[in-house]
Amino acid sequence: MIQVTRITELAHHLVEMVISEGDLAVDATAGNGHDTVFLAKKVGESGYVYSFDIQQEALDITYNKLKQENLEKRVTLVTGGHENLKDQVQGRAAVIMFNLGYLPGGNRWITTKYDTTIESLEQALTVLAPGGIITMVLYPGHQEGFEEKKQVIPFCRQLDPGQYAVLNSLLLNRGQNPPELVVIQRRSGGCLEV
Ligand SMILES: C[S@@+](CC[C@H](N)C(=O)[O-])C[C@H]1O[C@@H](n2cnc3c(N)ncnc32)[C@H](O)[C@@H]1O
Repeated sequence: MIQVTRITELAHHLVEMVISEGDLAVDATAGNGHDTVFLAKKVGESGYVYSFDIQQEALDITYNKLKQENLEKRVTLVTGGHENLKDQVQGRAAVIMFNLGYLPGGNRWITTKYDTTIESLEQALTVLAPGGIITMVLYPGHQEGFEEKKQVIPFCRQLDPGQYAVLNSLLLNRGQNPPELVVIQRRSGGCLEV
């Protein structure tokens, strides 16, 4: 059954619709490792995942989660900003996930920032495979997240509709500035139907 009560789960459902064994995938914000573990399972033994974070603490948590499930060999953990995504990722990615903001349970001042987020989004588009998707969860309820939304939405609006389909979803009954999901699909003839 599809769960739309959490926007992060909606992102997972959409990723499941496009990802296959053997794919290359990217987690642009490793955080507590949930998305990295999810992607590592989905790409299977023949696939590969790159996972970025600027905090060693986040990558250590992510590594431990991967190790518990015997998935660590499928993942390269990159200690550094996703604004260097293009230099690190070898090949075309079927899925690139961003879950913006700060590390839950960690330092709230260490957060994604709109300038590096836009830079990494530009780079992500260059490595995205035809038919592949970028998912981005935005949290405009905090100050930096609000700035990010102000930059990300106009950036997405100007993407060429001949090349990309862009979807924006939010839970309308969750007060002011609820989390939002942006999905960008590179067209390959047909597009994800949701
Ligand atoms: C909301 S958490 C990600 C949650 C994660 N996807 C999960 O499944 O648990 C956001 C993470 O982005 C990281 N971050 C902040 N700036 C970054 C950057 N420029 N590049 C990569 N990661 C960054 C933070 O350190 C934080 O761990």
